[in-house]
Amino acid sequence: MAAAAAASAVATPSLILGPAKRITGLGRSTANVSTGPAQRLRPNRRCFILAKYLFAINTPLSSGSLLTTPPPQSRYPHIASRQIQTIVAEPRMPRLSLGNINPHVVEAKYAVRGELAVKSEEYRARLRNGDNSLPFSEVISANIGNPQQLDQKPITFFRQVLSILEYPKLLDNEKVLLDGLGYKPDVLERAKFLLKNLGSVGAYSASAGVPAIKESIAKFLERRDGFPADPAHIYLSAGASSGVNTLLHILTADPTSGILVPIPQYPLYTASLSVLNARCVPYYLDEAANWGTSLETIKEAYNKAKSEGTDVRAIVIINPGNPTGASLPESDIRSVLQFAAEEQLVVLADEVYQTNVFVGKFHSFRQVLLTLQKENPGDIYDGVELASLHSISKGMVGECGHRGGYFDLIGFDKEVEAQIYKFVSIMLCAPVIGQCLVELMVNPPVKGDPSYPLYKEEYDAIFEGLRKRATALYAAFKDMEGVECGEPQGSMYLFPTIHVSPRAAEAAKEEGRTPDEFYCMRLLEATGVCVVPGSGFGQREGSLHFRTTFLAPGTEWVSSIKKFHREFMDKYR
Ligand SMILES: Cc1ncc(COP(=O)(O)O)c(C=O)c1O
Repeated sequence: MAAAAAASAVATPSLILGPAKRITGLGRSTANVSTGPAQRLRPNRRCFILAKYLFAINTPLSSGSLLTTPPPQSRYPHIASRQIQTIVAEPRMPRLSLGNINPHVVEAKYAVRGELAVKSEEYRARLRNGDNSLPFSEVISANIGNPQQLDQKPITFFRQVLSILEYPKLLDNEKVLLDGLGYKPDVLERAKFLLKNLGSVGAYSASAGVPAIKESIAKFLERRDGFPADPAHIYLSAGASSGVNTLLHILTADPTSGILVPIPQYPLYTASLSVLNARCVPYYLDEAANWGTSLETIKEAYNKAKSEGTDVRAIVIINPGNPTGASLPESDIRSVLQFAAEEQLVVLADEVYQTNVFVGKFHSFRQVLLTLQKENPGDIYDGVELASLHSISKGMVGECGHRGGYFDLIGFDKEVEAQIYKFVSIMLCAPVIGQCLVELMVNPPVKGDPSYPLYKEEYDAIFEGLRKRATALYAAFKDMEGVECGEPQGSMYLFPTIHVSPRAAEAAKEEGRTPDEFYCMRLLEATGVCVVPGSGFGQREGSLHFRTTFLAPGTEWVSSIKKFHREFMDKYR
């Protein structure tokens, strides 16, 4: 009976697929297959039955085997006269699982796009689909420095040039561009200059970047720092991230290689070092001194790591800081360079926020190093190896989706640089449109150029908008119970300290979260504002923070954070 039931059940079209064809989701065991109702044999995700065809023409059924009714001759002639034995195979697991892929990738953490960010995207999708059961009507992605996602407008001059680069045939109608669309003549000139130098943006460029763009960067560095730069040591990259990735690959030789990384830090560094199975040597920034660097702390971290057998090779500085927003005074930079020179550490200066400075002035590591070299000829500074990175992602450009950036090297050994060149060659080249945006960023319209008035108006408006929003958010934080925040100095973030009650900490523990994760999760659920817990960047034991960008327009979201905070404090008092 059972066999007959099985035979008819197995004969359902879902099973008869031909030799060795996978049949997904049938019953898990023979018993299931042979005794269950027909619908149990329909696909149900988990199992595969492998049909095995025995070459036993005209052989009667052996007991225990399951025979399907022969498939229609016309479709399955090759199995029509064969006895078909269906055996149940173990569920076929994917070749890859969390347990056998690169463990260093599994270990890496990147909170900026972690659980909260994923949840915020789910909320966004629900709102888009008309779900009005949420207590907010908009998701504010204050978790990531993504300016144009938060309404920062692209600079007109940049996009006009790009439009021609993408579609050079527009140049056949210059009159339309100039009179109809209001492009200025310098837009056309710049596009022609770039097209002449790169051919098509759809073609790979030279590995280290388009030579003419590298020359523009060198001129920019000279204008910015007052010291000439050599285009031969400039490498275009797909954003600063790709530059950091290249440099860390070169810098880390084995699991004892260590890199000094500021804490809190942008998790690109810790995550990349995890992936490379190298050591992060954390040094804490000084919150009491507006998140400046403390040489004492750096030395302590360095000596401790050395005593533990770490081969410390480099120090990373993020200036202006992420997540801290700190903008380093020249004296801090001088101290770091002196320490690096004394201990022979390579310096990685991440300067992607160099135009986001509200307090004081940006000092580049390059400018300070070259000044120290000039002031102290033949001294320790001559040998310092410095890589400085910049990007189109931040500042008033905010073109992070186009992936462009560069790094510039000083003092690197020729053979090492050849390996860096080889490494970037393996990735072929940085996106060419991103490279063009680097050219526009470092060589924007200047006074007297037809596009300058609009460029300046747009640039200043973005800068002012960011400053105003930073100040408004800072004022809100100052007003909130148990929150402390330094004055905004630069970059795109505030990183306030939060003090939560023991009851809130207990509730967090019950949920398996750190108190800052718990706070940020409740904030997202209540307001739709997504921020990042301080633990995602590293923070001193016992302290709690969160990072928020101040990119989002409007002030409503700031009020909703204040309201949430009051309620949270009251609830867990
Ligand atoms: C300090 C820092 N460095 C590098 C990056 C990466 O920037 P990019 O978009 O140029 O890869 C970021 C992005 O937020 C950053 O904050």
